[in-house]
Amino acid sequence: MTIGIDKIGFATSQYVLQMKDLAQARNQEPEKFSQGLMLDALSITPVTDDIISLATDAAASILDQEDLATIDMVILATESSVDQSKAGAVYVHQLLGIQPFARAIEMKEACYAATAGLDYAKLHIEKHPKSRVLVIASDIAKYGINSSGEPTQGAGAVAMLVTAEPRILSFNDDNLAQTRDIYDFWRPNYSSTPFVDGMFSTKQYLDCLKTTWSEYQKRQETDLSSFDAFCFHLPFPKLALKGLNKIMDKSLEDSVKTRLQDNFDHSIQYSRLVGNIYTGSLYLGLLSLLENSTTLKAGDKIGFFSYGSGAVCEIFSANLVEGYEKMLHKDRLDDLNQRQVISVEQYEQLFYEDITLDDEGNTDFNSYQTGAFYLESIQGHKRIYKGKMK
Ligand code: CAA
Repeated sequence: MTIGIDKIGFATSQYVLQMKDLAQARNQEPEKFSQGLMLDALSITPVTDDIISLATDAAASILDQEDLATIDMVILATESSVDQSKAGAVYVHQLLGIQPFARAIEMKEACYAATAGLDYAKLHIEKHPKSRVLVIASDIAKYGINSSGEPTQGAGAVAMLVTAEPRILSFNDDNLAQTRDIYDFWRPNYSSTPFVDGMFSTKQYLDCLKTTWSEYQKRQETDLSSFDAFCFHLPFPKLALKGLNKIMDKSLEDSVKTRLQDNFDHSIQYSRLVGNIYTGSLYLGLLSLLENSTTLKAGDKIGFFSYGSGAVCEIFSANLVEGYEKMLHKDRLDDLNQRQVISVEQYEQLFYEDITLDDEGNTDFNSYQTGAFYLESIQGHKRIYKGKMK
């Protein structure tokens, strides 16, 4: 039995900030962002779009009535949760109308948790082959106005339906994780934005990659030449490019290097326009690769490097399934170009708008552009979402 990704979808906000405008406002050369970080634009959410509305939009874009009647587990991976107790997956389950006899949970380990979610889904389906598991990575990356991480913000969700006999990718049983207790990026409960040791975090990302890759190669008795593409966690694409160069052995044939570099370029196309979406960014890279590569074909092997600060990382691989291209959406760049461009001033107001509740825990919001699902109000400290499946 093969197990893997049967459907994959993506949602982001309807507002976008151009990096050239941010560069000008922060007295930086635009090339620092466009070449130094390899970012062109960032998705910006209003207060009515949160990880739950984005997650629901991403899932709604791929699910049909049969899926809703058969999904028996919803896993939402996030590090920008809206509640310390109630799982975001419970709201998503209800908003989508998934049949009631399903498990709904939220998972956290910085940008890594979606990878653990996929593995849990795989183990569940091994035991219950008819099960379908919805795994969603949803995050809003918010570092603060004028902070060092400001140019690497973003927002979005990637939804993946994991099944037996999948139609996109089948997982190989080769996952290797590494955990190390470090403070490179963290957000204590009392802070709305993360603390980050930027340079240290980039060094840790690259060292986790190097050491895990070295051990993976030993255990799997393999090297990079057996891969057709490699997807990386994408806090900003330039760091992933450094990662690719780190594992690209000088002894590799030129044709292998060219293939991996070309596919890498396709894997960062969406992130260049969306920014960091934390847990989802590795899988946004996968989606970008699948929807834009002109050379990938059924049977090709894709490597994955997942990294979550704090830190846990994992390397694993999957193979493309015959006919995978029929399960994709080819107009996504056009969709991204439909977002409303906002000025730096508008971004500062929109992204950093505070939620103020009255004494009874109520508030209404101004209306903003969102996807089909949105946060309408908070009533008695309860979040009220609106929207329905098409
Ligand atoms: N033209 C071209 N390139 C330029 C340039 C110009 N005019 N000016 C600067 N650059 C280049 C620099 O040379 C540098 O490139 P290299 O790294 O290849 O040398 C690049 O632009 C960035 O410049 P700086 O290093 O000076 O940038 P910075 O100090 O302002 O901040 C950062 C960089 C620390 C990564 C910051 O963006 C940050 O704190 N980001 C958030 C943390 C982060 O994303 N960490 C990643 C690892 S942690 C993780 O992966 C989890 C997660 O998602 C958060």
